[in-house]
Amino acid sequence: MKERRVTNRGAPAAPAAAAASRRRKKPAFDPSGGFFSGVRIGAVAAFAIFVLTAITLVVLLSALYPRETPRSITPVALPKIMDLPQFQGEHKERLYWGTYRPHLYLGIRSRTPKSLLAGLMWLGIKDGYYALRHTCEDSDGLKRYGWVRHDGISYGRQVILDQNMNITTFFSKSWNDGSGYGGDWSVRVNLHHSRFWFFLKKTKSSLYFYIAEEEGSQIRISRNDASGLAASGHRHDIGHWQIHISAENNTFFHYAGFRTGNMHNITQLVQNSLIVQERKLQLPDTYEKSSNIVVFQVLGRNHLQLDVTFLAGVDEKKFSVQSRLDRLSGIRLDETLRVQEQIFDKRFENAYKLDNEELSSFGATNAVEIGKAALSNLLGGISYFYGQSLISIPSKEQKHHRESFWKYWPAALYSAVPCRSFFPRGFLWDEGFHQIIISRWDRNLTYDIVGHWLDLLNVDGWIPREQILGEEARVRVPDEYILQHTDNANPPTLFLPLHGLKAYIALASLESGKENNAERAFLEKSFPRLQAWFGWFNRTQAGTFPGTYYWHGRSITDKELNAKSLSSGLDDYPRASHPSADERHVDLRCWMALAAKSMVMIAKIIGAPHEVRKNWHSMARSNDLLFQKYEAMSQVLSDFDVLNQVSLHYDRKRGRYYDYGNHTEKVKLEWDNFFDPRTGQVQQVLRRVVSGRPKLQLVPQFGYVSLFPFIVKLIPADSQILEAHLNLIQSEKLLWTSFGLRSLATTSSIYNRRNTEHDAPYWRGPVWINMNYLVLSSLHYYSQEPGPYKDAAASVYKQLRANLISNVARRYNEMGYIFEQYDHTKEGEGKGARPFTGWSSLILLIMAEQYQR
Ligand SMILES: *[C@@H]1O[C@H](CO)[C@@H](O)[C@H](O)[C@H]1NC(C)=O
Ligand SMILES: *[C@@H]1O[C@H](CO)[C@@H](O)[C@H](O)[C@H]1NC(C)=O
Ligand SMILES: *[C@@H]1O[C@H](CO)[C@@H](O)[C@H](O)[C@H]1NC(C)=O
Ligand SMILES: *[C@@H]1O[C@H](CO)[C@@H](O)[C@H](O)[C@H]1NC(C)=O
Ligand SMILES: *[C@@H]1O[C@H](CO)[C@@H](O)[C@H](O)[C@H]1NC(C)=O
Ligand SMILES: *[C@@H]1O[C@H](CO)[C@@H](O)[C@H](O)[C@H]1NC(C)=O
Repeated sequence: MKERRVTNRGAPAAPAAAAASRRRKKPAFDPSGGFFSGVRIGAVAAFAIFVLTAITLVVLLSALYPRETPRSITPVALPKIMDLPQFQGEHKERLYWGTYRPHLYLGIRSRTPKSLLAGLMWLGIKDGYYALRHTCEDSDGLKRYGWVRHDGISYGRQVILDQNMNITTFFSKSWNDGSGYGGDWSVRVNLHHSRFWFFLKKTKSSLYFYIAEEEGSQIRISRNDASGLAASGHRHDIGHWQIHISAENNTFFHYAGFRTGNMHNITQLVQNSLIVQERKLQLPDTYEKSSNIVVFQVLGRNHLQLDVTFLAGVDEKKFSVQSRLDRLSGIRLDETLRVQEQIFDKRFENAYKLDNEELSSFGATNAVEIGKAALSNLLGGISYFYGQSLISIPSKEQKHHRESFWKYWPAALYSAVPCRSFFPRGFLWDEGFHQIIISRWDRNLTYDIVGHWLDLLNVDGWIPREQILGEEARVRVPDEYILQHTDNANPPTLFLPLHGLKAYIALASLESGKENNAERAFLEKSFPRLQAWFGWFNRTQAGTFPGTYYWHGRSITDKELNAKSLSSGLDDYPRASHPSADERHVDLRCWMALAAKSMVMIAKIIGAPHEVRKNWHSMARSNDLLFQKYEAMSQVLSDFDVLNQVSLHYDRKRGRYYDYGNHTEKVKLEWDNFFDPRTGQVQQVLRRVVSGRPKLQLVPQFGYVSLFPFIVKLIPADSQILEAHLNLIQSEKLLWTSFGLRSLATTSSIYNRRNTEHDAPYWRGPVWINMNYLVLSSLHYYSQEPGPYKDAAASVYKQLRANLISNVARRYNEMGYIFEQYDHTKEGEGKGARPFTGWSSLILLIMAEQYQR
């Protein structure tokens, strides 16, 4: 793992930034000026002392009150959603422990800013050398890893295939007599070396398990006794705790204790401490004074089984440790795991009712297992972070033109990560897709996660789109992506799960007639925050023409073929060749339509029925007004005739929806020689060359963005435009492949083009599962709406669904992973990050035919 410093080219390190601002605040005073001449020496000395004192004071004061705080790092003045009673008490305790360090092959922590951390390591081989496996790294080259069962709270089973090793990890949480706050948990690790290695009798298997205290307090260690007691300590929240480790069959232990404040490079810490004894690597059996990390090594033969038991609230006078342990390890644990697995399987079956026979008919062998793995690794990827985002303040707000950064307020995030190896942190636009899946498994998890995100709103209604909180998260991020920009949006996908919840919530509150319904309380508390969020988009991303929007922040450069819009989520998807304030993006307009519609839906739920609690009366009334505002917007943005106005987005001739802007098709990248004064050599770079004159027009790049009016179901079921879209979707010249819809039509000028020498096409061809899911949702909708194209929609739906399922399943069976994208040319191979069980896990809902309503 490479260590990265927090600073980067664009951003000075924190101390430098602070120093710069201090200089700014100093009064102008030039000691070398002509001021001193003719003044007596005593007066000069007195004056000098006065000035020095003044300077010292100013420096001290500016250290205490550094800079005027920019608006953008101020939280919005609204009550926090996470303060709602339903997130306290039992709920909070149930979620206290979890596998919330998914960037590790197995990592456990609690949902508290400074936690006890636990993790598993083993010895593998990398580039011909022994190396500790710990953080999920694609370069480790594992044939497979991922949770194949995980319920998000109390049970998980993971399978890891590493060269000749086959490792299974279980996580099981339980509440028993005597358990302290948050309950107890057990980890079981099974390791098998393959038959080949079995014959080489010398092989030893080695597993490492550590526990670390972020708060820094001491972890005591005890030589392995009969009960397997390994370590213990005390925390204010859970009381006395103990970790017991037991392993079967000729295993023996080594240990090491360290004292450190660094939790982001535990791998190196352990690796550096290993010593060679009898040609084996082992821990040194040393313990630094007041160690706050202890590591245990278990050595065994070809088969190794390790049980780690964590007991919270240990009090021998009340409950015997031995009886608690017996329940949580050994054969009793066998039984518990078996039961928990059965409960998961039953719940999965009820929730998704997968038709294995049908799925096999698409050539998707193993479909049910793949569905379980998709869901489980998404749930097992739920993470808890605590820390401060680094926010770039645009030069507008700065007196000087250099970029500098500020820290957002310290905050917690509970979030499902897109990918445990490449993207183990929170991403705003991914999260909406994750929650479509998670809300169908456990809505309380969705409320908790969405609540955390909405609590990150600043006073302007902005949410940083990539959340890099804490050191462990930061070391995984390339420098250039660390700073968050306050003018960058990101699709408001959280409205997707919120919109989908309407059926449950409306039904639940209407049926029960209960006003105090927790789900409704969640929406009530969220509503003002969603308003602020909506308002931010409506204000900052608006186009010049009323009712139009565009992703702000694109800037023209000759280094890229087409200026990226990372904020749209579709990074390199081609937009107008010459960014300008005249452009309008059809995807953002449709996101706004969806958001407005969802706001209306939420206002309806929390505004009715009217015979409510005392202070509800005024609320319901003010909601009426709000309601009207969103209703009006929703109507305009969903109005089909408005959408089809001349040259807004609709290309009458081709029957397609496009972006609009200052555009020419005549752009290409060409090699250019340039003289580099640093090296004194002539080098070649790719530069964009524009050979046409850009003019305001519809941007003829057909792809996912063009499908948005179809995706948000703005097209009436009886419109010929719907028929035209069904044909567009099916055209192999455009988007159709046997593996799903590709992101950009082969006929588009930028199809499959690189954006720079180093940027391979990303949203310019590959098949993405999240967009295919949204298209399927619409096809499914139109296949059920009465109208002349019902049957046509049904037939496209069936074929697209079969293609997606068969390819994702085939690649999973071959490669062991679900991928970020699938190739649109070479036989649909998996590409990009893996395991990508963020939105690609939507394949489960595609199998189950559960769609976005
Ligand atoms: C979700 O939370 C509600 C309210 O806090 C609780 O009554 C319900 O049992 C929870 N549901 C699940 C599935 O945990
Ligand atoms: C891993 O080992 C277990 C236990 O022997 C076995 O049941 C399982 O099939 C193995 N998995 C693979 C992929 O080798
Ligand atoms: C871990 O990182 C810290 C700070 O970045 C550094 O001082 C320390 O030496 C590192 N430890 C190891 C074992 O690499
Ligand atoms: C321990 O050894 C026994 C006898 O050789 C064997 O049956 C059992 O599977 C071993 N246990 C593990 C976990 O490998
Ligand atoms: C969105 O912006 C438009 C134009 O400024 C305004 O008329 C409309 O009321 C705004 N909508 C909401 C819900 O704030
Ligand atoms: C389009 O871009 C070109 C090149 O930057 C510029 O000269 C022209 O004024 C722009 N046209 C409009 C209508 O903005």
